[in-house]
Amino acid sequence: MNELVEALWYILPAYFANASPVVFKGKTSMDFGKNFSDGRRILGDGKTWRGFFGGLTVGILISLIQYYALPSYYGSFNLAFKLGFALSFGALLGDLVGSFIKRRANLPRGYPAIGLDQWGFLIAALLLGYPFKSLQTGQVLFLIVITPFIHWFANIFAYKMGWKSVPW
Ligand code: CTP
Ligand code: MG
Repeated sequence: MNELVEALWYILPAYFANASPVVFKGKTSMDFGKNFSDGRRILGDGKTWRGFFGGLTVGILISLIQYYALPSYYGSFNLAFKLGFALSFGALLGDLVGSFIKRRANLPRGYPAIGLDQWGFLIAALLLGYPFKSLQTGQVLFLIVITPFIHWFANIFAYKMGWKSVPW
């Protein structure tokens, strides 16, 4: 496999985990409506338990589909599952950290934070996935460059589909 295609193949569960919560969006927010010590919401209404577990499930399913499509890439089902979990959980965790930072900066839910929105989930996914399977430095740089474009494209698509109220 071409090394750039391989990088995209590797990160696919993280992309799906990050993109799918918008379809699942639940009612109960992950911070249960609570405020932080600064009087602002801890995470805000944009982060729900249903979105989180929906995203985690979709991300893991994608990695299992990838395993059946190309078992040699992972070596074992066990590794594919662990990598899929790590990448998906990392993407969702990075997104939560991003929302936490946005609320501290007094940005309302859904307000764009350029950089944080596109790279936060990616960096966290790469860090958590690393112990299970690693990429070359060039592949990581490629993902850092290409992910904002894919993120914007996916959000415009979700907006056009009526899943999101804003195209970012
Ligand atoms: N979503 C969810 N649960 C999550 C993540 C996302 O339910 N853990 C849903 C919410 O409906 C959210 C939408 O997906 O509004 C889009 O996600 P995102 O852009 O990450 O959230 P924002 O609404 O922009 O909130 P924030 O400002 O905190 O990033
Ligand atoms: Mg957003």
